This record gives sequence, structure tokens and C-alpha cells, in this order.
Amino acid sequence: MERIKTALEKASANRAAGSEHLSRRSQSMGTSDSSAVQGPILYLQTRIIQPNQRTMQDHRILTGSDPVSVNAYKVLRTQVLQRLETRDWQTLGITSPTSGDGKTVTAINLAISLARELHRTVLLVDADLRSPEIHNYFGFSPEYGFVDYLRHSQPLEDVLVNPGIDRLVLLPNHRPIENSSEILASPAMGELVAQFKARYPSRLVLFDLPAVLTSDDALSFIPFIDAFLMVLRNGKTSRGETEQAFEVMKDANILGTVLNGCDTKSYA
Ligand SMILES: Nc1ncnc2c1ncn2[C@@H]1O[C@H](COP(=O)(O)OP(=O)(O)OP(=O)(O)O)[C@@H](O)[C@H]1O
Ligand SMILES: [Mg+2]
Repeated sequence: MERIKTALEKASANRAAGSEHLSRRSQSMGTSDSSAVQGPILYLQTRIIQPNQRTMQDHRILTGSDPVSVNAYKVLRTQVLQRLETRDWQTLGITSPTSGDGKTVTAINLAISLARELHRTVLLVDADLRSPEIHNYFGFSPEYGFVDYLRHSQPLEDVLVNPGIDRLVLLPNHRPIENSSEILASPAMGELVAQFKARYPSRLVLFDLPAVLTSDDALSFIPFIDAFLMVLRNGKTSRGETEQAFEVMKDANILGTVLNGCDTKSYA
């Protein structure tokens, strides 16, 4: 049984965030006014999909069947929440030095765990535009993806889905795109993120990003989001890769590191 060990770093500022209670049909999360990006964002008809529990388990996604993992992610959730609230931050990018370190698993499980915290609503964005995987880990095929919103003006409400978990909304993607860093760095993306933040002050927005050392996507995204979690894979990520990744992201707020794949015995 593997577990998560967290080592959260850095600190500053203060203030606590408000709370937001949403019913199941509030997948929804309210109405909206104008969008600087592409017209109003309406969450009223967010589609509910039924995720495939077996697929989730195969990918190490929390289904409630593994209390050890559930508790490990609760610890991570609480540490992340405390540090975000202290700084009045609400957007968090999940990245890592290289491919396969566990970014997507961490982003999904953290989002699920945060959504189970009753005062929070969570939006999880598949911002790994080169290799979108969130839908695969939940075991569903999105009708539309983030790319359709970005490239083809598909209304955002057509893309958003609720994976059958209260207070959690996904912005999935279904096919890879080129020049992803240009898109992530574009003013339109900045406006979209600003809009996510402004409209729902107590919502947390998580972005599953590519690795720091394989593309400049995470680097390009620094100006738009509050902080990053750096996922390291136990027994895989080298010290050199870790140092390089932190060097590349030196202008970012690194909320902390997550050591993914720890043996239970080494958990502390
Ligand atoms: N703690 C863990 N224990 C066992 N398997 C894990 C663990 N974390 C992740 N995995 C598995 O390792 C693989 C890579 O994980 P994941 O997709 O989360 O990594 P990633 O960093 O997002 O990769 P990429 O860089 O390709 O986006 C997946 O098959 C996932 O199910
Ligand atoms: Mg990934």
C-alpha cells in the first residue's frame, strides 16, 4: 500500500476565505454576467457523468475503498487548504519535474478530497493540453474538451462535467493540441482564470499541468495562478531533477512538495 507524504514549504500573509454551500444540482454554482473571454459562463446545466469506479481504482483515484489513501489525501488537503487560506489564494497548479511523477493522480485525488470538505467547491482543469488524461482516469469520454472552448468557441458550460461527486466540477480535455504553452500564456487564458477567481471567491481551481522539465507550459502559466504544488515520485525523481525543476520555477510560489508513492512505513 502506497501513501502520500507531504512536505509543505514557504509561508506568508493572512486571511480566511468564505464558505459556499452547494446542493448537488448546484453543480451549477450559479449564474454569471459577462465574460471577458467568451461571453457568460453558465454552470446551471453542468452535465453529470457516472465515472467508472474500476478504472478509477486502476489509476489510483480515490473511490473510498482505500481508507489509508483517503486519510493520506486528507492530510494533504488540510495542509494545502491552510496554506492557501492564509494567503487568500485560490488557484493551484500541480506540476512535477518529469513525466509520470503522479501529477494527474495527485490533482484528481486532491480535488476529490477538497470537494469533500463541505465548505469548498472545486474546479479541476485539465491544463495538460499536450496529454490530457483526467477523463481517462475517471473512465469517461467527454463530448467536448477544453480545446473546443479555446479553439472553437464552444460554450464553457458544454465542456464542464460533474463526475458524480458533490461540489466537484471538471473541465476536461479530449485531444492533445500543439503550441500549448502559447495558449496557456495567452491573455485569454489569463482572463479566464481571473474570471474563475472573481466569480466564486470560495472556490478552489486546480490545474493539472505538464512537467516542468519537458515543456515550458508550467513556466508559461506562472503569471496567472497563485501557487504550485511540486509532485515528486518516490524512488524515481532524482535530486538533480528536483533542483532543476525548482530552478526553472524560481519565480513561482511553490506551496509545497508532494512525495508520491511513499511506502506506508515511511509515512510520517
Ligand atoms: N502513488 C501511486 N501508486 C501507484 N501508481 C501510481 C501512483 N501515482 C501515480 N501512479 C500511476 O503512475 C502513472 C503516472 O501517473 P500520473 O498520470 O498521475 O503521472 P503524471 O505526472 O500526471 O504523468 P504525465 O507527465 O504523463 O502527465 C499512472 O498510471 C498512475 O496511475
Ligand atoms: Mg498527467
